[in-house]
Amino acid sequence: MNERDTLKINRLGHLEIGGMDTVEIAGKFGTPVYVFDEAHIRNMMRVYKACIDNLYGGNGTVAYASKAFSCKAVYAIAKQEKISIDIVSGGELYTAVKAGFPAENIYMHGNNKLVHELEEAVDNKVGTIILDSFREADILNSVCKARGTVQNVLIRINPGVEAHTHAFVQTARTDSKFGFSVSDGAAEEMTAHVLSKEFLNLKGYHCHIGSQIFEKEPFVLAANKVMDFIASIKSRSGFEAQTLNIGGGFGIWYNDEDPEMKLSDYSEYLDCIITAIKAKAKQYSINEPYLVIEPGRSIVGEAGITLYTVGAIKEIAGIKKYVAIDGGMFDNPRYALYQSKYSALLANRAKEECTEKVTVAGKCCESGDIIAVDVQLPKAKSGDIMAVLSTGAYNYSMASNYNRNAVPPAILVKDGQAEYIIKPQTYEDIVRNDVVPDRLK
Ligand code: LLP
Repeated sequence: MNERDTLKINRLGHLEIGGMDTVEIAGKFGTPVYVFDEAHIRNMMRVYKACIDNLYGGNGTVAYASKAFSCKAVYAIAKQEKISIDIVSGGELYTAVKAGFPAENIYMHGNNKLVHELEEAVDNKVGTIILDSFREADILNSVCKARGTVQNVLIRINPGVEAHTHAFVQTARTDSKFGFSVSDGAAEEMTAHVLSKEFLNLKGYHCHIGSQIFEKEPFVLAANKVMDFIASIKSRSGFEAQTLNIGGGFGIWYNDEDPEMKLSDYSEYLDCIITAIKAKAKQYSINEPYLVIEPGRSIVGEAGITLYTVGAIKEIAGIKKYVAIDGGMFDNPRYALYQSKYSALLANRAKEECTEKVTVAGKCCESGDIIAVDVQLPKAKSGDIMAVLSTGAYNYSMASNYNRNAVPPAILVKDGQAEYIIKPQTYEDIVRNDVVPDRLK
């Protein structure tokens, strides 16, 4: 909970999000439900955009990394806020197009884009495609040739900086499945390859060093290294990059081990990156490139919470207490996948003293189906409403129908009003594509 005041506790002792009582939301929409505060999403988009406008003369764009949370409404918000988006699949592209998002402001990523996805991108006039392999450059060139169009592209490079949450490393060569290493000449070779393609217009480079990063140094280091690379390519081949996409990765608060992030903290990341880019441009007498940043998690992560209803409670004397909720790894697989730590509270008893430490378990048939561990709560009862915080990023977007559970709906709260942005899945939705061949009947 921070200065952005997405979350508050009201006089009833209930948790509020975006000015709306979460107990009321649970009553009206049922649980489990993802709830997003629109003001928070917009504030985050604006803070990044303001940095580019104010610190870099508007010479760049914010591309919301929509893998964090993709649905038509979030693209509609991005469009209104006049920012760009990053997509990574035909499905995300389709969603954005259906939402009326302007295709010229789309950046398309992916280490193995399928031929039909490249065709869909070109047919929909996606602004920029980030190339990740020689083969992809060949395919895209042919797709464009067949259509008589020229496509703007970037090359994804690895400058040799990798950040993993609380640590970052400088490596000569990365072992990532993404991009071309600078150090072994692969990035330079790919540059020559793309420049030789008649239907590809190479605008510059992209790099992304990791996700949920709090330090500034790895971003600055990466910006410096990419600028060094741009200058060296210019002196060796004459090609001067016009665009530098520095990726995303800025961290958010999930639990008490994380810093509480203020809006100004996010401006500081950009300030440092922009200062580094400007200094390098001056040092090498090259143009300051058009700057693209791609935050995902930090735009939607803290804007979202998930509401659940407490069901079974199991105490194993002297060992552990499980509080089971009506969701689980099908709506939030991040503990199961990464042992991510979440904060949770009882939304209907938010002012009560926490007296016990519990493990929040999901309802899936799997021991690893845990949502949060070592959570301090008042003594929970069946029927309590539980709120898990900072679930706006990589929860809905990574949800599944495991155990044929329905993916929860999402609602958007603005000025104390809530409405669906993703309707609830029904059992019928779940069986919609099932087919029983006649011989099995
Ligand atoms: N740009 C590129 C090319 C990326 O690969 C990513 C994230 C982003 C931008 C956005 O990064 P962000 O600002 O959201 O950190 N499923 C994982 C996160 C995977 C991130 C992958 N790429 C999780 O739940 O933590």
